[in-house]
Amino acid sequence: MSIYLRPELYEVAFSRLDVDREVEFLIDVFELAGVRVRRVLDLGCGTCTHVHKLARCGYEVYGIDLSRDMLYYARNRGRLALGSGICGDMRCLPFRADFFDVCTCLFDTFRHLVSRYDVVSHLREVWRVLRVGGLYIIDVANPRGYFLDTYTIPESVCDRYDLELLDVDYVNQLEVWRLRVRYGSSWVDVGTLKLRVFFPQELLTILELLGFKVFECFGDYDTSCRLSRDCRCWRMIVVVEKVD
Ligand SMILES: C[S@@+](CC[C@H](N)C(=O)[O-])C[C@H]1O[C@@H](n2cnc3c(N)ncnc32)[C@H](O)[C@@H]1O
Repeated sequence: MSIYLRPELYEVAFSRLDVDREVEFLIDVFELAGVRVRRVLDLGCGTCTHVHKLARCGYEVYGIDLSRDMLYYARNRGRLALGSGICGDMRCLPFRADFFDVCTCLFDTFRHLVSRYDVVSHLREVWRVLRVGGLYIIDVANPRGYFLDTYTIPESVCDRYDLELLDVDYVNQLEVWRLRVRYGSSWVDVGTLKLRVFFPQELLTILELLGFKVFECFGDYDTSCRLSRDCRCWRMIVVVEKVD
């Protein structure tokens, strides 16, 4: 079983209380970068929490996700009343060139690109659908745990699920996690998740080689928190621009 076939469990585990703050951060980033934004694409949009809030802020928002179940759940909760949710693969996007002002890939969705082929085909597609001057914002977990013994996940997001690391493949930079979700008074085993680990300089190098210009890297959903060795930096939020 995959957690993405059980959106109700996904929501219990990962419905972070701060989607409002995350969306405020995204809008702050648009302003900081001086980009006029009308059309936004959220890649791997899941249950469409960001699509919904961005659409309510007046943007024309599209979400794409492989999981019909996640989109169905979002639609049933009215989260696609203003935005659009499309079932599809973020490695092959059903949009015309230069269509979006901003693309986002939030909360570790990018880590589902497990092979080099996946990463490159995805980034080429993002390049194609973004207009020149548009932004791509990627949010992945900060891999500081690989260098230090400490890894801090804020308490608000770790009391509803339990992750057990089953395997680490250092060559392919893959982790396999077993995920259990607290549902009422019991724990439900929702199977395994295979995720790629990205390191900051590796990710920036790939993006630069593909032609993106790095605007900024943040360590949390807070524009005053630049990515650094500070332990507050539990995320790695990379903002790049498509340049000519
Ligand atoms: C960790 S969830 C994040 C969902 C959402 N962005 C959020 O912040 O809650 C990852 C999502 O990516 C989707 N996904 C994984 N691989 C994908 C792919 N190749 N194309 C589109 N969606 C994908 C999954 O179905 C899942 O909904």
